[in-house]
Amino acid sequence: MQLMLTTAFLFQPSRKALTHGYDSLMPTNIVTLPVRPLHCGMVGFGMIFDETYRPFFELRADEPLFSQSTGPVSIRLAGVATRTGSRAAKYLASSAGQRWPFSNFAGTDAIDRLLASGVDAVCVATPDDRHFSAARAAILAGKHVLIEKPSVLTLTELDELARLAAERAVLAKVVYHKLADPDHKKLRTLYQDGVLKHVNNGYCSLLEPKSISGGQFAEWISGRNPATYVAVHYLKLIDFTFGPNWALDRISATGQRGLVGPTDGPTWDSVQLQVVYRHPDGREAAFDIHTSWVTPDNFPGYVEQEVQFRFDNAVWNAHQRKRGVELTVENRTPSELKYTPNYHYNGTFLEPWGERSQRGYGIEIIERFFKEVAFVEYGGPTEGRVERLAQMRALAYNDITTDRNCVAIVQALEAILARAAAGVPGCVVKVNTGAGGLVLYEPGNATPLVLYNGRV
Ligand SMILES: NC(=O)c1ccc[n+]([C@@H]2O[C@H](COP(=O)([O-])OP(=O)(O)OC[C@H]3O[C@@H](n4cnc5c(N)ncnc54)[C@H](O)[C@@H]3O)[C@@H](O)[C@H]2O)c1
Repeated sequence: MQLMLTTAFLFQPSRKALTHGYDSLMPTNIVTLPVRPLHCGMVGFGMIFDETYRPFFELRADEPLFSQSTGPVSIRLAGVATRTGSRAAKYLASSAGQRWPFSNFAGTDAIDRLLASGVDAVCVATPDDRHFSAARAAILAGKHVLIEKPSVLTLTELDELARLAAERAVLAKVVYHKLADPDHKKLRTLYQDGVLKHVNNGYCSLLEPKSISGGQFAEWISGRNPATYVAVHYLKLIDFTFGPNWALDRISATGQRGLVGPTDGPTWDSVQLQVVYRHPDGREAAFDIHTSWVTPDNFPGYVEQEVQFRFDNAVWNAHQRKRGVELTVENRTPSELKYTPNYHYNGTFLEPWGERSQRGYGIEIIERFFKEVAFVEYGGPTEGRVERLAQMRALAYNDITTDRNCVAIVQALEAILARAAAGVPGCVVKVNTGAGGLVLYEPGNATPLVLYNGRV
């Protein structure tokens, strides 16, 4: 067997393996494989970084990703770009899980400096109306990009990112972690296998606490709404699970104001969105998605999420947190610990074999992106990169080119809410009509407003 070596990185037993004594179990004739590096950049270092990216980078600082085709691939958080740099500086100064130093870029040119620092892939986790410019700059610099949901807010922006990603031969992907929830995977499996037949309608509800609108997001909430922020989780679930052989037909929405901002202003407390698709047989399917970010902070669920989907032959009910666990601890629930926790999304554990871990589908979906990047860059000879890139771009669950329906709905929703805030409630946006790809109709006005000319 040929022994492969590199000078820079060698595959060593991890720190965890050594501290747990597996080294004594290792064979003596170890073949040392070259470890290929992937240097990663973060744009944005807020709540979602802490919840999903941080545990991923901390785990992979110790243990390279591995597959038969790539061999070991080390993942390093190499740089962070934010406005102030304060949270990243605090994290760098703490010893909690942080293994490797990284560059902390702050200020107006932070993203440019991050991109010039030699990273291979960039994750964009800024507020949603700032995804486009960061993602565009990263793709232009030839970096693979992972964007938090919603990817962007208009189809024109989506077209631009997709075009640039193809031109620069990099991946541009979006995080929709609900697709990796085992219950949602089973829903899709049952539908695609024909056990659940022909979805007809359904509802989804996602309610966030007041602390999101009044605290965490207070700084950037003006003019925003909770549906763009969270309904997209369910828009993607519906579009991916029951598609692709159907057509998005029309979007309508209404909502309430007065708590987060003025009653007649552009900032929304809660939104009710309806999306209608048409199946190839001409029958329609309608979905109502209710979102809010003004639920009481002491609501048992904190974040409350449920769905019901109805089929020709079945009904599917699911609740994100009522999966069997109910917990009450004096003075700790429901603030620090939750009454009905969802440990499937993200949880910290003492594993049966003694290790401490943090895992769940929220973290798994980030890891999956890096596996895809590793496959493109290291999954075979250089001359096969184009083919490997095409294979990874064809994955409909996260590629930006397959986010068209979700972005179309978001763009339509934002236009409908803007018209309502301007005194014209009750608008409907129709998709792929003779007048254009995304066309807004106001009640009592025969002249439509074309939001997007091309086909959705
Ligand atoms: N997958 C999920 O379930 C989930 C959950 C929460 C948030 N998110 C998404 O993650 C994104 C960020 O949300 P969050 O909760 O972490 O927000 P946050 O407000 O906690 O953090 C935002 C971060 O972006 C940085 N930032 C803002 N403007 C910037 C700019 N112009 N350039 C560089 N950095 C900038 C801020 O400094 C901060 O570090 C949003 O798109 C949101 O929709 C996803």
